[in-house]
Amino acid sequence: MSNSLFRKKSLTSILNEAKVGDGDVHGSGSLKKVLTVRDLTLMGVAAVIGAGIFSTIGQAAYNGGPAVIFLFILTAVTCGFTALCYAEFASRVPVAGSAYTYSYVTFGEMAAWIIGWALILEYSIGNIVVAISWSSYFNNVLEGIGIHLPAWLATDYNTAKAAFAATPAKEEAWNTAPMLGSWRVILNIPAFLIVILVTILAYVGIHESKRSANLMVGLKIVVLLAVIAIGVFHINTENWQPFMPEGFNGVLMGVSAVFFAYIGFDAISTTAEESANPQRDMPRAMIYSLIICTIIYVIVTLVITGMVHYKEFQHVSDPLAYVFDKLNMRTIGYVISISAVIAATSVILVFQIGQPRIWMSMSRDGLLPKKFAKVHPKYHTPGFSTIITGVIVAIPSLFVESGIVTDLTSIGTLFAFVLVCGGVLLLPKVPKGEKKFNLPYINGLFVIPVVFGLFSWFFWDRVSESFAGIAAMDHDRVLFVIFYILATLITVLTIWKKLSLIPVMGMLCCLYLMIEIPVRSWVVFFGWMAVGLAIYFMYGFWKSKLAAKRV
Ligand code: ALA
Repeated sequence: MSNSLFRKKSLTSILNEAKVGDGDVHGSGSLKKVLTVRDLTLMGVAAVIGAGIFSTIGQAAYNGGPAVIFLFILTAVTCGFTALCYAEFASRVPVAGSAYTYSYVTFGEMAAWIIGWALILEYSIGNIVVAISWSSYFNNVLEGIGIHLPAWLATDYNTAKAAFAATPAKEEAWNTAPMLGSWRVILNIPAFLIVILVTILAYVGIHESKRSANLMVGLKIVVLLAVIAIGVFHINTENWQPFMPEGFNGVLMGVSAVFFAYIGFDAISTTAEESANPQRDMPRAMIYSLIICTIIYVIVTLVITGMVHYKEFQHVSDPLAYVFDKLNMRTIGYVISISAVIAATSVILVFQIGQPRIWMSMSRDGLLPKKFAKVHPKYHTPGFSTIITGVIVAIPSLFVESGIVTDLTSIGTLFAFVLVCGGVLLLPKVPKGEKKFNLPYINGLFVIPVVFGLFSWFFWDRVSESFAGIAAMDHDRVLFVIFYILATLITVLTIWKKLSLIPVMGMLCCLYLMIEIPVRSWVVFFGWMAVGLAIYFMYGFWKSKLAAKRV
């Protein structure tokens, strides 16, 4: 029993299944290999630049001041470590499935299922957040041309209720919503519709999706460059004083928002089977897209905090448009709103493409019903999985509020990142020259203890407070103590086993970002994982192809 819980797939069998298209489940053949390094990079940028830079950056800048750029750089470095680990896996296992497939090879089936389940948080639940943000910008755009949607058709119940509690007279959605019995009908229809439209696009083909993604990325980069080019002439350097008003703790309050802005570069790895040369192009595309996005994020942050004082960004959900409106450049503000809509659309598209491909891999392994792996005979896309993704994103988009789903997306994604980085440490060595990307091995023996020492020194107050207060079971402290113990163990292991620096740094940084996410979201995360495990033991454990081999 315990052996079978940790049963693993070999690299060879995964590669063979992908090559033959696993005919029994695929129906009519495999996916089209059309994506080049340029397409993949653009797809990465398409997935990354979205709701994060266009909206959540506002509150992060309010909390941390202009110094939030350091958080962008720190998060980029964290994502960079992870991207290199993804790249190492993608060059060895160039099949759809991303972190899910990678864990199957290194940790075994149960961990793979857990990751697959966590990735639903990144792709589907993350897309709910983006769809909600899309809806609010879309509403701005409509308002700009004089179309006013009824407010109760453009938001969710809880948001309307909270806004009503804050300013009862002003809250249009709550006050005008029709009643169904004692229930107010408040639905986010634009969010629902955009998910349906994008799902149709993802269903009809990777070619069409690729073309649209490329077009949308081109547009949003041009607009962001325009923001920089015009905004730079309106910077008042006095607005950068103080640069770090609340110290580093203020900066760290933006962790979830800033990390959310980077989520997506890993989505490239789900299209490995549609890439013309995945082993060479996947690693390059991930790193290129991260570099492009970081440069844009840092400069945009400097520009907007230079144009308007950071204190004005409290509760501003459209900071890029806001700064231009503030300086009486309303037309530019309006163009930015339009581009935010385009940016969010491209993010939704890439995630709607990514999720079905992960399910396709899980289905190939028998962990989900066969239908999930079936490729559409005409469109060559995983049709059934694409429709199910559409349904599970579109319906909640009507009802849920974005706060908790943002945190959940970040936790789920970071969890997957930790396992990918950890998984790299378990991979067998491959002789040089056998693959086109090699994660550089740097001995962590000396560096990791220094990093750990510096961290302990820098956070010493928090370390001692957390250990002293652990008896009170203050949840934030408990999380910090767990992190500190894990970091100590990882440091000792690194010294003992001379572990590779990059994956170890990736694990430590991702674990740290995870514990900065509020505890209430952790509770939901554990609940989500418990449901996932229950499903595994009721279905996947028995239906898995490896289970069939075992009998
Ligand atoms: N990084 C993506 C965004 O900011 C999820 O919308």
